Amino acid sequence: MFPEGGRPAEILLARERIAERVEELAGGLTSDYLKRPEPPVFVGVLRGAAIFLADLVRAASIDIVTDFISISSYDASEGQSGIVRIVKDLDLDVSGRDVVVVEDIVDTGLTLNYLRNALEQRQPASLRVVALMDKAARRIAPVPIEYVGFEVPDLFVVGYGLDFQGRYRNLPDVLAVHDLARLINDPGLLQQGHLKPNVRC
Ligand code: IMP
Repeated sequence: MFPEGGRPAEILLARERIAERVEELAGGLTSDYLKRPEPPVFVGVLRGAAIFLADLVRAASIDIVTDFISISSYDASEGQSGIVRIVKDLDLDVSGRDVVVVEDIVDTGLTLNYLRNALEQRQPASLRVVALMDKAARRIAPVPIEYVGFEVPDLFVVGYGLDFQGRYRNLPDVLAVHDLARLINDPGLLQQGHLKPNVRC
Protein backbone atom coordinates (compact mmCIF):
# COMPACT_ATOMS: atom_id res chain seq x y z
CA MET A 1 0.00 0.00 0.00
CA PHE A 2 2.92 2.34 0.62
CA PRO A 3 5.32 1.52 -2.19
CA GLU A 4 7.57 4.51 -1.69
CA GLY A 5 9.73 4.33 1.39
CA GLY A 6 7.80 1.75 3.43
CA ARG A 7 5.27 2.44 6.13
CA PRO A 8 5.11 6.06 7.23
CA ALA A 9 3.36 5.08 10.48
CA GLU A 10 2.52 2.07 12.60
CA ILE A 11 0.30 1.26 15.52
CA LEU A 12 1.80 2.30 18.82
CA LEU A 13 -1.26 1.67 21.00
CA ALA A 14 -3.87 -0.69 19.66
CA ARG A 15 -7.52 0.03 20.48
CA GLU A 16 -7.76 -3.03 22.76
CA ARG A 17 -4.80 -1.87 24.84
CA ILE A 18 -6.23 1.63 25.08
CA ALA A 19 -9.62 0.27 26.19
CA GLU A 20 -7.97 -1.86 28.88
CA ARG A 21 -5.94 1.06 30.23
CA VAL A 22 -8.93 3.41 30.14
CA GLU A 23 -10.83 0.88 32.30
CA GLU A 24 -7.94 0.79 34.78
CA LEU A 25 -7.69 4.58 34.95
CA ALA A 26 -11.45 4.88 35.38
CA GLY A 27 -11.31 2.29 38.18
CA GLY A 28 -8.67 4.32 40.01
CA LEU A 29 -10.60 7.55 39.57
CA THR A 30 -13.81 5.87 40.74
CA SER A 31 -12.24 4.80 44.02
CA ASP A 32 -10.44 8.11 44.52
CA TYR A 33 -13.57 10.24 44.03
CA LEU A 34 -16.23 7.88 45.39
CA LYS A 35 -16.71 9.52 48.75
CA ARG A 36 -16.55 13.16 47.71
CA PRO A 37 -19.54 15.34 48.61
CA GLU A 38 -20.10 16.56 45.04
CA PRO A 39 -19.42 14.97 41.65
CA PRO A 40 -15.97 15.84 40.29
CA VAL A 41 -15.79 18.10 37.24
CA PHE A 42 -13.87 16.41 34.44
CA VAL A 43 -12.43 19.10 32.19
CA GLY A 44 -11.64 17.90 28.68
CA VAL A 45 -8.97 19.90 26.88
CA LEU A 46 -10.26 20.42 23.35
CA ARG A 47 -9.96 19.02 20.92
CA GLY A 48 -7.53 16.19 21.43
CA ALA A 49 -8.95 14.85 24.70
CA ALA A 50 -12.60 14.61 23.58
CA ILE A 51 -12.49 10.93 22.64
CA PHE A 52 -10.47 9.90 25.70
CA LEU A 53 -12.83 11.82 27.98
CA ALA A 54 -15.87 10.20 26.39
CA ASP A 55 -14.49 6.71 27.04
CA LEU A 56 -13.10 7.55 30.48
CA VAL A 57 -16.29 8.97 31.97
CA ARG A 58 -18.34 6.06 30.65
CA ALA A 59 -15.94 3.56 32.19
CA ALA A 60 -16.12 5.24 35.61
CA SER A 61 -18.82 4.18 38.07
CA ILE A 62 -19.40 7.51 39.80
CA ASP A 63 -21.40 10.60 39.08
CA ILE A 64 -19.25 12.96 36.98
CA VAL A 65 -19.87 16.43 35.59
CA THR A 66 -18.09 17.29 32.34
CA ASP A 67 -16.94 20.58 30.90
CA PHE A 68 -14.48 21.60 28.19
CA ILE A 69 -11.78 24.17 27.76
CA SER A 70 -9.78 25.09 24.68
CA ILE A 71 -6.27 26.48 24.79
CA SER A 72 -4.42 28.06 21.88
CA SER A 73 -1.20 26.29 21.12
CA TYR A 74 1.87 28.41 21.62
CA ASP A 75 3.09 30.17 18.55
CA ALA A 76 6.16 28.59 16.95
CA SER A 77 7.56 32.11 16.53
CA GLU A 78 7.52 32.45 20.29
CA GLY A 79 9.71 29.39 20.59
CA GLN A 80 9.36 27.71 23.97
CA SER A 81 7.99 30.74 25.75
CA GLY A 82 4.94 28.83 26.96
CA ILE A 83 2.64 31.68 25.99
CA VAL A 84 -0.79 30.20 25.52
CA ARG A 85 -4.28 31.51 26.11
CA ILE A 86 -7.79 30.24 26.76
CA VAL A 87 -9.79 30.23 23.53
CA LYS A 88 -12.94 28.67 25.01
CA ASP A 89 -13.39 28.85 28.75
CA LEU A 90 -15.29 26.54 31.08
CA ASP A 91 -19.02 27.04 31.40
CA LEU A 92 -18.96 25.96 35.05
CA ASP A 93 -17.66 27.76 38.11
CA VAL A 94 -15.21 25.26 39.57
CA SER A 95 -14.44 27.03 42.83
CA GLY A 96 -14.78 24.55 45.68
CA ARG A 97 -15.16 21.63 43.27
CA ASP A 98 -12.92 18.64 42.63
CA VAL A 99 -11.47 19.18 39.18
CA VAL A 100 -9.88 16.51 36.99
CA VAL A 101 -8.20 17.84 33.86
CA VAL A 102 -8.35 15.30 31.04
CA GLU A 103 -5.51 15.65 28.52
CA ASP A 104 -4.64 13.63 25.45
CA ILE A 105 -0.86 13.96 25.62
CA VAL A 106 1.65 15.98 27.60
CA ASP A 107 4.61 16.91 25.47
CA THR A 108 6.66 19.96 26.54
CA GLY A 109 4.24 20.46 29.44
CA LEU A 110 3.83 24.16 28.62
CA THR A 111 0.11 23.91 27.92
CA LEU A 112 -0.65 21.89 31.02
CA ASN A 113 1.51 24.10 33.19
CA TYR A 114 -0.44 27.14 32.04
CA LEU A 115 -3.75 25.36 32.50
CA ARG A 116 -2.95 24.12 36.01
CA ASN A 117 -2.00 27.64 37.09
CA ALA A 118 -5.10 29.17 35.47
CA LEU A 119 -7.42 26.63 37.14
CA GLU A 120 -5.69 26.87 40.55
CA GLN A 121 -6.58 30.56 40.58
CA ARG A 122 -10.26 29.57 40.57
CA GLN A 123 -9.73 27.84 43.91
CA PRO A 124 -11.04 24.35 43.25
CA ALA A 125 -11.27 21.97 46.22
CA SER A 126 -8.70 19.82 44.43
CA LEU A 127 -7.03 19.69 41.04
CA ARG A 128 -5.61 16.60 39.39
CA VAL A 129 -4.67 15.67 35.86
CA VAL A 130 -5.22 12.50 33.90
CA ALA A 131 -3.30 12.24 30.63
CA LEU A 132 -3.67 9.38 28.20
CA MET A 133 -0.05 9.76 27.07
CA ASP A 134 3.10 11.25 28.55
CA LYS A 135 5.95 12.11 26.18
CA ALA A 136 8.24 12.77 29.14
CA ALA A 137 11.44 12.95 27.09
CA ARG A 138 10.26 16.26 25.62
CA ARG A 139 9.36 17.97 28.88
CA ILE A 140 10.37 21.60 29.27
CA ALA A 141 8.01 22.64 32.04
CA PRO A 142 8.03 20.09 34.88
CA VAL A 143 4.34 19.64 35.67
CA PRO A 144 2.59 17.08 37.88
CA ILE A 145 0.40 14.48 36.18
CA GLU A 146 -1.44 12.40 38.76
CA TYR A 147 -2.72 9.70 36.39
CA VAL A 148 -0.85 8.62 33.24
CA GLY A 149 -2.17 6.11 30.74
CA PHE A 150 0.98 5.41 28.76
CA GLU A 151 4.54 6.66 28.66
CA VAL A 152 5.28 7.13 24.97
CA PRO A 153 8.54 7.71 23.08
CA ASP A 154 9.49 10.97 21.41
CA LEU A 155 7.50 10.38 18.22
CA PHE A 156 4.62 12.28 16.65
CA VAL A 157 1.40 10.37 17.23
CA VAL A 158 -2.08 10.55 15.73
CA GLY A 159 -5.40 8.83 16.33
CA TYR A 160 -7.77 8.35 19.28
CA GLY A 161 -8.35 12.11 19.36
CA LEU A 162 -4.93 13.31 18.29
CA ASP A 163 -4.55 15.01 14.95
CA PHE A 164 -2.20 16.05 12.21
CA GLN A 165 -3.54 19.22 10.61
CA GLY A 166 -7.01 18.37 11.87
CA ARG A 167 -7.03 14.84 10.44
CA TYR A 168 -6.94 11.38 11.99
CA ARG A 169 -8.67 12.12 15.29
CA ASN A 170 -11.18 9.38 14.45
CA LEU A 171 -8.64 6.58 14.07
CA PRO A 172 -9.39 4.05 16.82
CA ASP A 173 -5.71 3.21 17.42
CA VAL A 174 -2.82 5.52 18.25
CA LEU A 175 -0.27 5.54 15.44
CA ALA A 176 3.34 6.62 15.66
CA VAL A 177 4.43 8.58 12.61
CA HIS A 178 7.89 7.52 11.52
CA ASP A 179 8.10 9.68 8.43
CA LEU A 180 6.72 13.08 9.33
CA ALA A 181 8.27 14.66 6.24
CA ARG A 182 6.17 12.43 3.98
CA LEU A 183 3.05 13.25 5.95
CA ILE A 184 3.76 16.97 5.69
CA ASN A 185 4.08 16.54 1.92
CA ASP A 186 0.93 14.47 1.72
CA PRO A 187 -1.37 15.14 4.71
CA GLY A 188 -3.90 12.53 3.57
CA LEU A 189 -1.31 9.75 3.52
CA LEU A 190 -2.68 7.82 6.48
CA GLN A 191 -6.26 7.62 5.27
CA GLN A 192 -8.22 5.07 7.24
CA GLY A 193 -9.09 2.84 4.32
CA HIS A 194 -5.45 2.35 3.45
CA LEU A 195 -3.95 2.31 6.86
CA LYS A 196 -6.14 0.03 8.92
CA PRO A 197 -5.76 -3.23 7.06
CA ASN A 198 -2.17 -2.47 6.21
CA VAL A 199 -0.78 -1.83 9.65
CA ARG A 200 -2.89 -4.34 11.54
CA CYS A 201 -1.81 -7.38 9.58
P1 IMP B 1 2.64 20.63 25.14
O1 IMP B 1 2.22 22.01 25.57
O2 IMP B 1 3.91 20.67 24.36
O3 IMP B 1 2.72 19.66 26.29
O4 IMP B 1 1.60 20.14 24.08
C1 IMP B 1 0.37 19.68 24.40
C2 IMP B 1 -0.54 19.56 23.20
O5 IMP B 1 0.18 19.47 21.95
C3 IMP B 1 -1.31 18.28 23.31
O6 IMP B 1 -2.48 18.46 24.09
C4 IMP B 1 -1.61 17.97 21.86
O7 IMP B 1 -2.77 18.64 21.45
C5 IMP B 1 -0.41 18.52 21.10
N1 IMP B 1 0.56 17.44 20.83
C6 IMP B 1 1.71 17.19 21.46
N2 IMP B 1 2.34 16.11 20.95
C7 IMP B 1 1.52 15.65 19.95
C8 IMP B 1 1.60 14.54 19.05
O8 IMP B 1 2.54 13.71 19.03
N3 IMP B 1 0.55 14.41 18.18
C9 IMP B 1 -0.50 15.26 18.15
N4 IMP B 1 -0.61 16.29 18.99
C10 IMP B 1 0.39 16.50 19.88
